[in-house]
Amino acid sequence: MNLNDAIKQRRSVRAYQDKQVDPELIRKIFSDAQDSPSNCNTQPWHVVVVSGAARDAVEQSMVSDIMAGKTPTPHFTPGDQNLKDEYRKRQIDCAISLYDSVGVKYEEKDKRQQLMLRNWQFFGAPHAAFFSMPKTMSEINAVDMGIYLQTVMLLMTANGLASCPQGALAMYTDKVQELANIPENHAIMFGLSFGYADESNPINQFEVGRANVDDLVEFISEV
Ligand SMILES: Cc1cc2nc3c(=O)[nH]c(=O)nc-3n(C[C@H](O)[C@H](O)[C@H](O)COP(=O)(O)O)c2cc1C
Repeated sequence: MNLNDAIKQRRSVRAYQDKQVDPELIRKIFSDAQDSPSNCNTQPWHVVVVSGAARDAVEQSMVSDIMAGKTPTPHFTPGDQNLKDEYRKRQIDCAISLYDSVGVKYEEKDKRQQLMLRNWQFFGAPHAAFFSMPKTMSEINAVDMGIYLQTVMLLMTANGLASCPQGALAMYTDKVQELANIPENHAIMFGLSFGYADESNPINQFEVGRANVDDLVEFISEV
């Protein structure tokens, strides 16, 4: 698969087949992703991939915290807070496309919450990865994390796998940090559920659009 096809085909997948990914393939993807660039080649990412019983234990821990009404303890301000103007509009459009795909109306709060809960059940994916970086690092190092995440996701697409990046997986950090053995001096930034897509599920059949390139990129050649 060429790079343009991988970029076009990658999308956030929110329903998965009950089928494990070969551990050798998972290892190869993360090994290949090591070619990602980073500031001063610092490679600030630390990743824990959970599968099998470890995956189930992390899911149970997050879901029980939510059911108990525990206040989230994110290490970073979540990316969906205080959005305004066109950013807020895109956030709402994205959420409505998601609800529409499974016939949930905005007024149906219980159903929306059930849908939201799927985040912490990894959308049924058999594997999930937690991405953290040292707490001593700052926004500019977070750029490296984003580049690395996209590299991992594109490698997954090119290898027939589906994924969903999730800020939601960085919300209930305490027990996750302990269960997934994430270093104490690291802050969890996001997670990634992954596996084989369940293409028949309607939640995987909507697409979110993008702004026009001319709205976001300027090409200047004269002063
Ligand atoms: C850093 C990051 C965090 C995200 N967090 C979530 C999340 O918590 N839950 C979710 O369902 N999707 C999440 N997404 C997926 C976005 O909604 C998705 O990338 C966007 O709508 C574009 O759709 P596409 O990935 O299908 O192209 C996240 C994406 C990124 C890059």
